[in-house]
Order: sequence, then C-alpha cells, then structure tokens
Amino acid sequence: MELYIDDAEIKTISRLIDLYPIDGVTTNPSILARTGKDPAEVLQEIRDIIGEDRTLFIQAVAPDTEGIVEDARKISEVFGKNTIVKIAAVPEGFKAMSILKKEGIRTCGTVVYTPLQAYLAAKAGAEYVAPYVNRIDNMGYEGVATVKKIQDIFDSNGYDCKILGASFRNCNQVLELCTYGIGAVTCSADVIDSFVRNAAIDAAVKDFADDFRKLTGKDSMREVLK
Ligand code: E4P
Repeated sequence: MELYIDDAEIKTISRLIDLYPIDGVTTNPSILARTGKDPAEVLQEIRDIIGEDRTLFIQAVAPDTEGIVEDARKISEVFGKNTIVKIAAVPEGFKAMSILKKEGIRTCGTVVYTPLQAYLAAKAGAEYVAPYVNRIDNMGYEGVATVKKIQDIFDSNGYDCKILGASFRNCNQVLELCTYGIGAVTCSADVIDSFVRNAAIDAAVKDFADDFRKLTGKDSMREVLK
C-alpha cells in the first residue's frame, strides 16, 4: 500500500520524509490555505523536498470542465511527470478526466463520498480515487465499508484504478484498509506517527538500550565491536 503525507507544512513533510518510507505528498486547496503562503511557492518547495521520484498530488480549482483541463495542463507542465491532478468527482470533473486521460495527464477523482462517484471517476479514466473515510463516518455512514465496496467494484469490473484512502482520524481506519489491500492512503503526520506511537514499543526499545549499557557501558554496537 502506498503511503502519502496529507499536509503542505514544509517542516512536517521534511521530518516524515526523513523517517518513514513515504511515497509522496497530497494537497488540496484547504491544506494549502492553512499554510497562509503563496501556493505556487509552497508546492515548488514540496516538490524540491520530495524530489522528482516521489508523487505530488495537486488539486485543480477551476469550477468548469474547460478550466479544470487548463488547470491540469498547467500543473502537469510546472510540476513534472510524477504529479497527479486531483479533480472533484462531479459531472464537470468526469468530463475533464476523460479529456486529460487522452492527453496522458494523470488524475485522481477526489471528494469521493459514494461508491458510484468512484465508479464514474474510474470509468472516466482517473488513475486514483480518493474517498474521505472520516468525513463519511461523520455523516453517520461507514467510511471503511464504503472504501471496501469501492475496491470490490473495481475488482469485479476490472477497473485499473487505485484507491487513495483519505481523511483519516485514527490508525485503525488505515489498518483495516491496509488489511483489505487497497492501493494507497494519505494521512496527517499525527495519524502516521500513531502507527508506532505505543508505550509498549517505547518501553521495549528503552529496555534493550538499558540492558546493553549495563553490560558494556556503551550506547552502540560499533563501540564494542573490534
Ligand atoms: C485528500 O485527498 C483529502 O483532501 C483530505 O484527506 C481530506 O481530509 P480532511 O477530511 O481531513 O479534510
């Protein structure tokens, strides 16, 4: 399962990229707005930090098909081949996805709340769809179950479209989808850190270090090896 950072804060991205096996960064207009900075500069900084080989998701903002297509062409031109254009899974967006597919521009159907939205995005040629797990939960429906249903639709219809699970509030939501074999998730730093935030893990790591220090008076294996 691919793992993305759902954030545009440079310090946060740098820390996570340094520590974890991260495949890239996803952004949306609200995430960019939270930085309070020029989006063009922030996105370029993100591209510079993650390099050309990791994937950057950038959302088209224009409301009409023609505008979405123009946004997507510009995003692709400026940020390179490992960039995926997020497009809202609404009628104007599906039309834009079909046009962009023919031009070889990679897209992700976003703002997905229902399985049939995901079906339409996949059929229109999106490479990814991003269902909003926690937002679906907060509407009183089942976010994880909705994503599993989307995966079943793709499998049973033979759609070559990956799910990018999004909008998570806890690692259990991610765990269930990882177990089910979905293609990708994008998570906040807090949720990614929570994969290994556990008192038992910290205690076990500390015990090993303490025992080794008691035995050798040293803090590393290289200090005792000849
Ligand atoms: C990613 O594609 C989504 O834009 C994002 O995960 C939404 O998350 P939120 O519900 O935390 O805003």
